[in-house]
Amino acid sequence: MKSKRSLVLLVLILTGYMNGIGAEIKNGRTAEKVDSLLSKMTLAEKIGQLNLYAGGWEFTGPVPADANNQQKYEMIKSGGVGAMLNVLTADGTREAQKLAVENSRLGIPLLIGYDVIHGYQTMMPIPLGQAASWEAEVARQGAQVAAREASASGVNWTFAPMMDIVRDARWGRMMESPGEDPYLASYMSKAWVEGFQGGDLSNPETIAACAKHFAAYGFAEAGRDYNTVDISMQTLYNMVLPPFKTASDAGVASFMNSFNEIGGVPANGSEMLQRKLLKGEWNYQGFVVSDWGSIGEMITHGYAADTLEAGYKALTAGSDMDMEARVYENSLEALVTSEKIDMSVLDDAVRRVLTIKYDLGLFDDPYRYCDADREKKELLSKENLRIAREAARKSIVLLKNENNLLPLSKKGQTIAVIGSLAGSKDVPLGSWRAQAITNSAVSLVEGIQNAVDKKTQVTFTNGYNLTQGNREFIRELNIVEGDQSDFSNAIELAKKSDVVVLALGEDCWQSGEGRSQTDIGLKGDQMDLMYELLKVNKNIVVTLMNGRSLAIPELDENIPAILEVWHLGSEAGNAIADVLFGDYNPSGKLPVSFPRNVGQCPIYYNHKNGGRPVTNPHDAGMVFWSHYTDSPNSPLYPFGYGLSYTSFEYSDLSISTTEMGTSDRLTASVKVKNTGDKTGQETVQLYIRDYVGSVTRPVKELKGFEKVQLEPGEERVVKFTISNETLSYYRADLSFGSEPGKFAVMIGGNSQKTLTTDFRLVD
Ligand code: NOJ
Repeated sequence: MKSKRSLVLLVLILTGYMNGIGAEIKNGRTAEKVDSLLSKMTLAEKIGQLNLYAGGWEFTGPVPADANNQQKYEMIKSGGVGAMLNVLTADGTREAQKLAVENSRLGIPLLIGYDVIHGYQTMMPIPLGQAASWEAEVARQGAQVAAREASASGVNWTFAPMMDIVRDARWGRMMESPGEDPYLASYMSKAWVEGFQGGDLSNPETIAACAKHFAAYGFAEAGRDYNTVDISMQTLYNMVLPPFKTASDAGVASFMNSFNEIGGVPANGSEMLQRKLLKGEWNYQGFVVSDWGSIGEMITHGYAADTLEAGYKALTAGSDMDMEARVYENSLEALVTSEKIDMSVLDDAVRRVLTIKYDLGLFDDPYRYCDADREKKELLSKENLRIAREAARKSIVLLKNENNLLPLSKKGQTIAVIGSLAGSKDVPLGSWRAQAITNSAVSLVEGIQNAVDKKTQVTFTNGYNLTQGNREFIRELNIVEGDQSDFSNAIELAKKSDVVVLALGEDCWQSGEGRSQTDIGLKGDQMDLMYELLKVNKNIVVTLMNGRSLAIPELDENIPAILEVWHLGSEAGNAIADVLFGDYNPSGKLPVSFPRNVGQCPIYYNHKNGGRPVTNPHDAGMVFWSHYTDSPNSPLYPFGYGLSYTSFEYSDLSISTTEMGTSDRLTASVKVKNTGDKTGQETVQLYIRDYVGSVTRPVKELKGFEKVQLEPGEERVVKFTISNETLSYYRADLSFGSEPGKFAVMIGGNSQKTLTTDFRLVD
């Protein structure tokens, strides 16, 4: 007995040692090593660590005579480069490391960065799709797979996760974001960071993550990428920064700042964000990398007169590493030798970069991430594809299901699969697809064919053509309009079939960086085809493939069943088939509001009430209210919305007290019952409203959620705890705290349909 107890004690001590004291000692040792290395470095070598170059050539092949590449090559050898991006393959990255390690005076290894956003070669759903799962495991496991694959190929640093809050579907980068809500975005982003980094950066199967873009990049005016951002401090602190704070607390290795300005100061030059908040108040120990060329863009913004001033402003503000602007390379030596910048400022930046290199284990073995054997085994492995399929089906959102058209039977019926998106093995891979192999996804039609029995007849035709040309790199996506040559085939198939599965949506290159749009409807001939098909067959299921929320009121009006399937990754077709045929009961919920029309953008559920809110727009009879004369204010599908093949009923909302003090806790509970005939999962959502604040508060804010699985007829009481922290926010003076007064508690299955009760917070 005694020995058992001492064993437990020993385990506890060891665990404590590993997690706490051990970590401290390790950090202390790393700091010593970093300082010792720093003391040996010349000024040029220090500056070199802050240079991030893009690899413009194949390291595995012969080095071209091209002067620029040759120059990069020489720079690495001289210790003038600290990190590379877009250098690929286990062998290629090994070559790059060799240049640094075996040629430079101090042999400092390189960070090898890459945009591993939703997978390296096995593609997970786009991040927006993953957020629709409302499941940390989806994010965590997806990031683990991505890290395993990328690390085998020599990448040790990803530029992900992106945690920009987005309210405007015109912005092409909505696909990379966890959506419009800071609570959900923090939840997903933390899991992404944990997935990429694991508990231990020195594990060769994990990679350093990067919280981006710091900050407010998603608030680009008019949804136009790289445009100016004008945002209040309250919105910045309460809406935009929470996921970044969570990532910082979770130990994310790096931050990337953003292209936009905040309050007239480009993010690279923002002392307020980088020095004061991130490295000051948050005590963040990792490093900050700029976005591509963005330190130089401070000149274009009109915030720095020249390279020297841009370098000065960025480094002193806390931007540690320069991605491809070559500003640090061309300014820091002069700035430090003329004593405009103190050596300690430079040392701080270099120390941060070197620390991550030590943490990654690069000084023990610079080639630990370049493992050609592991690369062969890891990329597109069966296990990775299994995880991708699981993630994909959990990301699907059922938007409409009139008369329970879905799920479809797998047996003995005729299914017409129509739409070029349904045949595409490429579009589901999405934008930001890293090293995904072109045309490597399971298409929708393949997924359906894999799922049905032999007696089921599956026919397919393109119907419309969405895009043509080199889709990835062209400036404007070439949307095909007016080619209705395949319409008659599609109509014939629809006529002869019991049901039509019609794939509509967006080409994957309609979203992503630089892909803003003023029209967020369905492009090309898609709507024309839909109307033609409706004339001959009403049993149409639309699967919507897209990278942003779309304005699809006509679909909602005319189509009985709609599945939002995003760009779902490598296993897209199989995952969609899982849901179409009911092998998986859809459980996703929208992470963004779907507008009725583009004119409603930006649209988001956690808006302010304003002085003249519209409660009943069409009966009001007057125009002097905050409304549109040609559209309701409400979205077509609200944030948090998503149906199931079963139904859920909410009742008996109750709170443990109607008056709580700041040190109390209140329990809010609700009964959720599965009233349908299938087992299903429901994400029960808790929102609160602070009715009166020293600055105005949103009409509702997500403060918790729980996913429950219920058998037919089963009911469960779901409980949430509300503490003073739940009710706190960043006030006018940016202090974080609550204010006494009346609050609403709202619980339901989406942000619009909730049960509501009130309570008071007292001093
Ligand atoms: C620019 C993008 O804004 C950023 O997110 C990305 O990581 C870099 N380019 C590197 O590709």
